[in-house]
Amino acid sequence: MTTKRIGILTAGGDCPGLNAVIRSVAKSAFGLGWEVIGFEDGFQGVVENHFRVLKNPDVSGILTQGGTILGTSNTADPFRYPIRKRGQIVFRDYSDHVVRHVKELELDALVCVGGDGTLTIAKKFLKWKLPIIGIPKTIDNDLSGTDFTFGFDTAVHIATEAVDRLHTTAASHHRVMILEVMGRYAGWIALYAGAAGGADIILIPEIPYQMKFVCEQVKARAGKGKRFSIIVVAEGARPKGGRMVVKRIVKTSTDPVRLGGISHVLGRDIERLTGLETRVSVLGHIQRGGSPTHDDRNLGTLFGHKAIELIQRGLVGYMVALQNGNITQIPIRNAVRKRKLVPRNHPLILATRAVGTSFGD
Ligand code: F6P
Repeated sequence: MTTKRIGILTAGGDCPGLNAVIRSVAKSAFGLGWEVIGFEDGFQGVVENHFRVLKNPDVSGILTQGGTILGTSNTADPFRYPIRKRGQIVFRDYSDHVVRHVKELELDALVCVGGDGTLTIAKKFLKWKLPIIGIPKTIDNDLSGTDFTFGFDTAVHIATEAVDRLHTTAASHHRVMILEVMGRYAGWIALYAGAAGGADIILIPEIPYQMKFVCEQVKARAGKGKRFSIIVVAEGARPKGGRMVVKRIVKTSTDPVRLGGISHVLGRDIERLTGLETRVSVLGHIQRGGSPTHDDRNLGTLFGHKAIELIQRGLVGYMVALQNGNITQIPIRNAVRKRKLVPRNHPLILATRAVGTSFGD
């Protein structure tokens, strides 16, 4: 049996299921007699050579924990590394640090667990022949090449519970209740949680809405004696011909735009145009925290184990993926080529439309 030494990092926004992946990668590797090095805070740990050798007790009892025991960073792009100089943030290319540290540590593979930003960075290192394996992570579920990413199911679960809770208070007060969920430029979380929670209106970036249709749906319900309405809106939703609402720009981030605030715009307009009392809830980071669902734990375990199998087979430059129920692999470059958006004819859109949900179009 050949002994290998592998590294693992978790980068980008944290996500439920990361610890399940770390545990699966490490324990599968230990089973083969390999060594595992955990880099701290994503690529920052590789640039600055901050790591710890993981042993069984480090990864024991973490399956059910949210977050990541390794820490993460969404600002540590080695090709555009932010450093403070005379009180100012400036950017330097420190990619050579990564190459040097991976070589010095004689890593047979570097497992990068991350979303679009992380895998784009990982892809650039393939040119340097770094032995990279990607594992897709994001609550947004917007990575191509995999049917689902872990973290998504937990986010949907939390958002669905929020919709359920809003239902009872909405019905009691005869109000319009709006729930804003995350998802960046894709409407997966809003669609799945909105459908599961029986939302009356679901607004997603892929289907620009018109205020007149949103108000018509709310008023039609009121006309039928249903004096409340539930709206689930994705943070990236926008009116037809309008723009997404940007909450802030994080200059140091690999993806600087942070969306958020569309629910407040909607709430104000609905109240003005319909005269119905409206309240807004923004779910925010609650949908990213806490214990993962059983599906996310199991997907994390399957992905971690597959990563080890690929390394064993000498396959690098691949991302593990879920396709049609099978755990497989695709070249990393194909995973980051295109954002996976909700198709307008997605079965869940067709089915929810059929039961009376409006998409504001
Ligand atoms: O990509 C995951 C995500 O939670 C998005 O849904 C959201 O837009 C963004 O990250 C929030 O980023 P931050 O944690 O930097 O506020």
